Amino acid sequence: MGSIYGKYEEYLRQVCDDLRQKVEGYSSAEYSKSGTHISEHIDIRIKSDLSMREKCRKKGLEETAENALSAISDSIGMRIVCSFTDDIYKNISYIRSMEGCTVIKEKDYITHAKPNGYRSYHMIISLEEPFEDVFGNVPGRYKAEIQLRTIAMDSWAALEHKMRYKKDIKNQLLIESELKRVADELASCDLSMQTIRDLIERA
Ligand code: GTP
Ligand code: MG
Repeated sequence: MGSIYGKYEEYLRQVCDDLRQKVEGYSSAEYSKSGTHISEHIDIRIKSDLSMREKCRKKGLEETAENALSAISDSIGMRIVCSFTDDIYKNISYIRSMEGCTVIKEKDYITHAKPNGYRSYHMIISLEEPFEDVFGNVPGRYKAEIQLRTIAMDSWAALEHKMRYKKDIKNQLLIESELKRVADELASCDLSMQTIRDLIERA
C-alpha cells in the first residue's frame, strides 16, 4: 500500500518548507525591529501515513489523498512555542498578514481553555502554492494547522498527552482534576511572567 498522500507527498514537503520560511522570515524581521525573539522554537511535521489513515477511519472518511488534504486540516502541523503570552498574539497578527495565506478557522483555547485545562491558540490556514492541489488547481491551496503556545502551555500539553495513555481507571478523576489544577497554576505563572516582562520593558 502506498502513502495516503500519493503524488502530493512531495508537494507537502514543499509547503512545509514554504511555511517555515514565511514564519522564520517575519520572526527575523521582528527581531531586527525590536531585538526580541517572538518565538522560542518552531516545530513542523507532516502527519504520518499511519496517523492520517487512522484519522480518516475515525471520521468515517475513505482513505484518499483528497480527504487527507481537504477534509482533514492537519496533514501539515506547525507548533510555535513562545516565551510570553503577548508573543503569541504578535505571531497571530503576522500569520494573518503572510502572503498567500488565508485563515480558515481559529480556536482560542487561551481565552477559553478546554475543560481539562488545555491551552493553546489554533489556526487552520490555507496557503497558495505554485503547484497542483488535490482539486487539480494550479496554483494550488494547501491547509495547515498552526498551534501557538507558551513554553508552560507546551510542557503541560506534552505531559498530559503522555499520561493520557497511562490512565489508571481507579484514579482517573483525581488525575484529571490535578492536571487541571496544574494547568491553571501554569496559566497564572504565564500571567506573572508577562507582567514581569512588562515591568522590565517600562523600566
Ligand atoms: P482533531 O484534529 O480531530 O482533534 O480536531 P479538533 O477539531 O478536535 O481540533 P482541536 O483544535 O481541538 O485539536 C487539534 C490538536 O490540538 C490535537 O491534535 C492536539 O495536538 C491538540 N490538542 C487539542 N486538545 C488537546 C488536549 O486536551 N491535550 C493535548 N495534549 N493536546 C490537545
Ligand atoms: Mg481534537
